[in-house]
Formats: sequence, C-alpha cells, structure tokens
Amino acid sequence: MLSNNVYIIGAGETKYGELWDKSLRNLAVEAGLKAIENAGIYSKDIDAIYGANGLAGTINEQENIGALIADFSGLSNEGIPSIRVEASTASGGAALREAYLSIKSGEYNVVVVGGVEKMTDIHGSDIIEKMSSILDREWEAFYGATPAAMAAIIARKYMHDFNVEKEALAMVPVNDHLNASKNLNAQYHNKLTLKQAMDAIPVAEPLNLMDCSPVSDGAAAVVLASEEYMKRNKKEGIKIIGSAIAQDYLSVGSRDSIYTLKSTKLAAEKAFRRANVKRDDISFVELHDSFSIYALLELEDLGFVEKGKAKELVYDEIKTGGRIPVNPSGGLKAKGDPYGAVGVGQVVEAYLQLNEKAGERQIKNAKYALLHNMAGTGTSSVIHILEGY
Ligand code: COA
Repeated sequence: MLSNNVYIIGAGETKYGELWDKSLRNLAVEAGLKAIENAGIYSKDIDAIYGANGLAGTINEQENIGALIADFSGLSNEGIPSIRVEASTASGGAALREAYLSIKSGEYNVVVVGGVEKMTDIHGSDIIEKMSSILDREWEAFYGATPAAMAAIIARKYMHDFNVEKEALAMVPVNDHLNASKNLNAQYHNKLTLKQAMDAIPVAEPLNLMDCSPVSDGAAAVVLASEEYMKRNKKEGIKIIGSAIAQDYLSVGSRDSIYTLKSTKLAAEKAFRRANVKRDDISFVELHDSFSIYALLELEDLGFVEKGKAKELVYDEIKTGGRIPVNPSGGLKAKGDPYGAVGVGQVVEAYLQLNEKAGERQIKNAKYALLHNMAGTGTSSVIHILEGY
C-alpha cells in the first residue's frame, strides 16, 4: 500500500571531529544504535538500511559499506537489506531520499538511514587528493584543482560581478562558529570575531582557513516510518513534506554560469512545490556551506534573496532570531564536514529543533526546516523540507 506520509521517529549522531580512537565501523554503529534507541524500535521492526558514504573506498580502503553497517550493528543475522548510497558530499541527503521513496512506494514501513565518514586517518596533500576525486578528475583535478580552489574561482567571479566584499563571506563562519559553540557534537566550539575570520591564513585566495570546512570524522542516523506504522503504533513524528534532488554538470566549466547552483535552484523549486509552503514559512535552514561562498550562492538559489544580494542577509538575517536563521548546528564549517554523514546530520539537527530539544541553540517556534545537501561544487543538490508539530 502506498504511504501518504513519511515520518522521522528517531535520530542520533556521534561527535564530529578528529576522532582518533574511533574507526569507520565504530562511528556508524554508534550513530545507528543511538537513532534506533531514540526511536524506541527493535531489530525486528527494521525493513531496510540505507548507508551514506562518500570516500571509504579510497580513504579507508573499505567498500561494501552496507554490509559493514548491518554486520557490526548485529543485524546481519536478521537478513535486513543494507546498501550504500553514494552521491559525493550529498550522499546523506540522497540516502534519506531513497529511504523516503522506498516507504512512499509501500515497500517498507521502517527504514534506518545512516551516514558515516572517517577522513582523518590520512593527512595533508593525501587527504586533499582523495577529496578532490569528487571533482571532474580529467578536466579539473588533473590540472591541480581542489574543492577549495574551485570554490575560490567561483568566489572571485561572484565578488567581482556583484561587488561583494570579503567581509560578507567572513560573516558565514562567524555565524557558524557562534552556533557550534552551543553544540556539544560540533568539531569546533570557539567563537570567531569578524577580524579573526578575515585575518586567517590564506588557503585559496580569496578564501582563507575560516572560509573552509575542516576535514572531519563522524556519523549520523535517523529512523523513518510509514503512515501505517505510525497509526498502528500510535506514534508521532516529524513529517517529510518535500523531497527533491537535481543535477548539474560535473565540471564547473561546462555550466552556463559558474555562480548559479542550478541543481540547488531546480531541487528547491520542486521541494517547495511538493511541500506547499513558502520561503517565508521556513523557520531555519541547514545549508551545505563547505566553503563560505556557497552559503551566499545557496541562499540566492534556494530563492530567499535575488542573485547577488545574499550580502544583505549575512550580517544579521542569518543569525538565530533573524529573518532566515542559517545552520543552528554550526554548519559544515564549524559542526564539521564528514562527507557521507553531513546530509543525515542535518536531519538530526532538524529533528532536535522541531522537537524543541536543541537546548541553548533552540530556534523559537520552529515549525518548518529546510535541509540543503550538495555534492562538491554543486553537481547534485538534495533538498528536504520537514514539518514539526
Ligand atoms: N577551520 C578551522 N580550523 C581548522 C580548519 C578549518 N577548516 N582546518 C584545520 N584547522 C585547524 C586544526 O584544527 C588544527 O588546529 P590545532 O593546531 O589547534 O590542532 C590546525 O588548523 C592545523 O590543522 P591541519 O589539519 O594540519 O590543517 P591543514 O592545513 O592540513 O588543513 C585545510 C586545512 C583548509 C587545508 C583543510 O581543512 C581542508 O582541506 N579543508 C577543505 C575541506 C574540503 O575540501 N572539503 C570538500 C568539500 S566539497
């Protein structure tokens, strides 16, 4: 039977950061078990597992992540199907969407979605080389481009064409670090002044260290359930009211405009249409701000402000209490950027916020959350709109 609605009934995550004492499998299992416990379900209730991961094959030399997760969660004996979903840094959002569709179709009633990445086992140029494999190897990475270099090229052109000062970019990490200072699971807890954000060491100019997300380990998991399961068990949950994914060219040079995130624009249009809510209804957004420039482009391409005008939002309006609060979790910059976990971690934050369990960083009267998870330079974007009570 088709399921009208899909609900989130449990969530859990590990701390994000340089977690030397935890392996890929430890992280996945820790987050998964927290989510299952939080949802109050048992292994017999689980119909399927979707595990998001970006780079375990190259960084950890471990493929077959679905089987790894099921095995080390003690679920292999139950025969529960468990597969990996890979869409670069948007793997988490993509896994959530696949799980959502599997419930919508009527195939499953309860699905666990996990995301995990263990990135800090290799360092320096080695990890940058691996991270660069999400770009077009032949047309970008082969010539020395890294994710930071591509973001810097986009930033230069954008700042030139729309007369945007570096300060506007720096406001993004200032906001992220302030929010992350209230999130125990975040990688960084230090607040950042505008001067510190402006004066950090250059990485790929105009971007400096504070414009870049860090290299991170971490995992997150959520439990989804069908309408039928909710009725049968008299449960309440956060509703997924809009889900969409869209694609753009892999190589930035093939795109019509290097500072328009077409995949974000297309996915946002679909997600808002499906959710039947307006931009003004959104209580907060979790943005995929792997580099500060992307936060500005994303606010524009999600439709919160016209192209070139995000500089009008970043000083005050993105703060908690502003017109459109951004990244209450601390975002990729300060909560951290464990590739496959990011999109699922955004759901964990929304689950806490919409259940009014986000403690010090609670957004008042949070009702609708928009989650934006993006692959690399914008090759794919996955958007979910969630509704609280
Ligand atoms: N923000 C704040 N601090 C950071 C940081 C960041 N992005 N990256 C590293 N640091 C800190 C570390 O915590 C460490 O602090 P400590 O000395 O107090 O322990 C210090 O800087 C040195 O860390 P290290 O890991 O040696 O830094 P690095 O120079 O090797 O790496 C970058 C810095 C910017 C190169 C790295 O963070 C990076 O590549 N980021 C981009 C990630 C990326 O491309 N993601 C892809 C998204 S599509």
